[in-house]
Order: sequence, then C-alpha cells, then structure tokens
Amino acid sequence: MKVILTGSKGGIGSAILNELKQKSIDVVEINSSEIDFSKDFDIHSVPVDGLVYCAGINHVNAYDEIDEQQMIDVMNVNTFGFIRLCKKIQFNEGSNVIAIGSLYSTETKAGRLSYTMSKHAMYGAVKTLALEMAYNKVKVNMVSPGFVDTPLTRKNNTDERIQQLNNSIPLGLTSASEIGKVCVYLMTSNNAITGQNIIVDGGYSLVGV
Ligand SMILES: NC(=O)c1ccc[n+]([C@@H]2O[C@H](COP(=O)([O-])OP(=O)(O)OC[C@H]3O[C@@H](n4cnc5c(N)ncnc54)[C@H](OP(=O)(O)O)[C@@H]3O)[C@@H](O)[C@H]2O)c1
Repeated sequence: MKVILTGSKGGIGSAILNELKQKSIDVVEINSSEIDFSKDFDIHSVPVDGLVYCAGINHVNAYDEIDEQQMIDVMNVNTFGFIRLCKKIQFNEGSNVIAIGSLYSTETKAGRLSYTMSKHAMYGAVKTLALEMAYNKVKVNMVSPGFVDTPLTRKNNTDERIQQLNNSIPLGLTSASEIGKVCVYLMTSNNAITGQNIIVDGGYSLVGV
C-alpha cells in the first residue's frame, strides 16, 4: 500500500508517519520544502492508495485585526491545498483519503476566524468529495484532533496549563500517536465510512471547547 502524507515533519504528522510505517505502509512524504500549499502547485503523482493531508497553519487574530494575506494563506494551506492535491493525485480504486481537521471544523472561539473558516470549509469539502469519489470506491473522511500533546503544545503552554488541561479533559491530553492509529485504521480497514468527521479528543468537546 502506498500513501501520500503531507506535513509529516510536524508534531501530529510525524506520529502519523510512525504509525503508518509500523504497518509497513509505503509513505510518500510531502513537506513544505517540496510543495508550498499557500500557492498553486504541480505534482507528478504515481497511483496511490491513499492520502493523509496533515499540513496546517493557524493565525490567532480578532476579526478587525486580521491581515488579508494571512487569512488567504490559512485558506490556501488548510483547505484549498487539500482540494488541489486531491485533484492532482491518481487514486487507485478503494483508496482512503483523510483530511486532518480540528474541533474548529464544527466549533469556534474568539480570535479563530481564519482557522475556523478553513476547517469548516475543509469538512464541507470532505463531504462533497466523499460523494463525488464514491464511484471509484474512494472513501473521504476527516479526523479531528482536540488538544494534542506535541512538542509545540508543550512549548506554547506552561507545565501548569498542561496539567490543567490534563485534569479538565476526560481522558487527558490526546497523544499524537492516537491520531496516527485512527489514520491506520481508516487506511487499512475502512470500506464503509465516508464523508464523516471523526473526533479524537479524549472527550474534550463533551465538556465544552
Ligand atoms: N496540535 C494540535 O493540538 C492540533 C489540534 C487540532 C488540529 N490540528 C491540526 O493537525 C495538523 C497538524 O498540526 P501540528 O500540530 O502537527 O502542527 P505543526 O507541528 O505546526 O505541523 C504543521 C505541518 O504543516 C506543514 N505546513 C505548514 N505550512 C505549509 C505550507 N505552506 N506548505 C506545505 N506544508 C505546510 C508543515 O510542514 P513543514 O514541517 O515541512 O514546514 C508542518 O509539517 C494541522 O492541520 C492542524 O490544524 C492540530
């Protein structure tokens, strides 16, 4: 099985890469040095059995302070890059496509306009692509992490805040490898789930984002 993974050097992407490789899946990594998803691009794709689109960026700003270019970059990297890549990849019959979403694909918070817009739109794209690609038995789903324990999360939060989150999330902070395991399941065993947003957040959304 050959699968394309974007954002494979990131906190979540590297854990997904590790889980896929443990199952002997041949992973073609696409990183920002090869393709910058903030712009249009070209690729020469060999036929593959799946895609995990994990590239993503976030800029936190109130609506009246949003920089136009940053807003466009967030949409390009988080949403249009995913759609553009799907258009350019040759998927074998029965492939699985996974978009890494977020709780911001259905919820929001002040200051998250661009990010929320991009992830809500990504979910819309997932549902539509699921319908349009079903003729070739291609399944398209979104895996939405909650608060994930990555080096960046540790860097951006004090030990006290991490402890607080661990206590307030029913199952504690989600480990990045759990996101990878859900991707492995979808990639290797899924024949009936399509157009869905699978939330992997340790119960975080149950108690309010
Ligand atoms: N961390 C969380 O708690 C959390 C929660 C919910 C959802 N998510 C989602 O999970 C995904 C991965 O997040 P992360 O926490 O692992 O973030 P991260 O460590 O910052 O990784 C982001 C990845 O996106 C790639 N990327 C950024 N800009 C790009 C561009 N212009 N072109 C191509 N690739 C680009 C980066 O590639 P390079 O390394 O090559 O630059 C990097 O590998 C994102 O979609 C994010 O929205 C994360």
